[in-house]
Amino acid sequence: MSTTIDPRSAELATIPKATVAESVALLSDVILPTVGKGPIIRRPAMVGLAETLDLDTRAIRRMQDLRDKYGSGPLLMKVPGRSQAVLLDPAHVRRVLDETPYPFSTASDEKKSALSHFEPEGALISDGLERDHRRKFNELVLDHEAPVHRLAQQFLKVVDEEVGVLIKDVGEGDLNWRRFYRSWFRVVRRVVFGDSAREDHRIIQIMEALRARGNWAFLMPHNERQRQRLFSFMQNYVERAEPGSLAAVVADTPTTNKSAPLHQIPQWLFAFDPAGMTTFRALALLATHPEQSEQAHAEVAERRGDARFHLPFLRACILESLRLWPTTPMVLRQTKEVTHWDTGVMPADTGILIFAPFFHRDDTRIGFAHRFAPEIWLDEEADKSPHRETGEEGVATAWVRDWPLIPFSHGPGICPGRNVVLLLTSAMLAGFLGNCDVRLKSEHRLHPYEQLPGTLDNYSLRFSLSE
Ligand code: HEM
Repeated sequence: MSTTIDPRSAELATIPKATVAESVALLSDVILPTVGKGPIIRRPAMVGLAETLDLDTRAIRRMQDLRDKYGSGPLLMKVPGRSQAVLLDPAHVRRVLDETPYPFSTASDEKKSALSHFEPEGALISDGLERDHRRKFNELVLDHEAPVHRLAQQFLKVVDEEVGVLIKDVGEGDLNWRRFYRSWFRVVRRVVFGDSAREDHRIIQIMEALRARGNWAFLMPHNERQRQRLFSFMQNYVERAEPGSLAAVVADTPTTNKSAPLHQIPQWLFAFDPAGMTTFRALALLATHPEQSEQAHAEVAERRGDARFHLPFLRACILESLRLWPTTPMVLRQTKEVTHWDTGVMPADTGILIFAPFFHRDDTRIGFAHRFAPEIWLDEEADKSPHRETGEEGVATAWVRDWPLIPFSHGPGICPGRNVVLLLTSAMLAGFLGNCDVRLKSEHRLHPYEQLPGTLDNYSLRFSLSE
């Protein structure tokens, strides 16, 4: 009599396995500090602590040690009640991201329990046909392959106005995170919902509350009433469809009975928050790196009119800020079937962790690991790479020098908002550089000839803006 083995059975696993001590170390040095900072909404105190204790550098070292011991992996951790693997090899990263969403689903258990607090039918936590339709909807609204969104002109007008107001408001005082955030989210609300949403703080407040629940994933019950309120506000804006906003594009975009358009919007609102952090960090990099600052100023001075839509060097600075301090440090997948690797077999239903900082800052493999190197996103050498992916002319957005620099992920699950992000954030930087002299006032060690820190606490950055 033949018995069939459950494809999820741990007995099937023949890939290398970490010891209990190594699994505990992975958990305490890599996963817990990252989760502690807040995967869905950051906890500022924890980000500050991570910077003080240099926890991200420790996490990278831990991963390097495991790679030195186990080679290519994937490495199966010993976690009770769960099959969880971690990737150590660039080729495996490429495979998993290329073979998304099947057999490597984006809808991992952790993501489902965290994101379902505010977008239960979001593309990222959907599978099968539903995922296809939802992903397609996002791609269409966000013009995901176009470096310049169809509404770029209106978006840049919004950015210019808001940066102007912010610079005036800061005056002789300091530009701190709170001021920046307020202004950035005015941009976001106007871009997503239209000018009438400029001062509509309700949506962001509800989003913040729901995201705070998302940080606790399944440990926190859903707040249906709050979610309903969020959805009804969003519905109103989509019905209003203000010209020049994404809401107008949403209203115009064909949908199916599976697209769940309203469920896609919270992902955008949520993800614009890290885009703001990235911009603020990029501003700090430019304020402390004279050579790159000169190049950035030259680009801003020379690109006028429609040429301002595409600022390759400033986009590269944003990508560098994301490489150095990725805002999605844990890219998660979950296997839908048994998968075979050169080192063995991985059972179905295994969670896969790609820890982006390990690849982005692996100083044993890449020479520019700890310095500000925007040129890598523009580099001619990268042009020659057979794997180079260009999201836009002159700026690679996924795979550079055959190495996984994946701030926006890669493959069929790549962030469909990346070009909108690069458009708005580079315009925001240009708004500062073109109109004032930006100096870093807070005491962060960002020197061109020293190793950049593993964590950069955006909440404590402070600048002066002078004429
Ligand atoms: C700094 C800003 C951002 C970064 C670094 C970023 C990065 C990412 C990454 C790494 C993923 C893949 C996550 C995964 O596979 O688990 C993703 C997914 C996604 N992002 Fe972004 N994102 C940003 C901002 C945005 C914005 C502003 C939007 C919308 C306007 C957006 C829309 C999306 C959507 C819809 C998905 C899900 C795609 C899917 O299900 O295939 N993102 N993003």
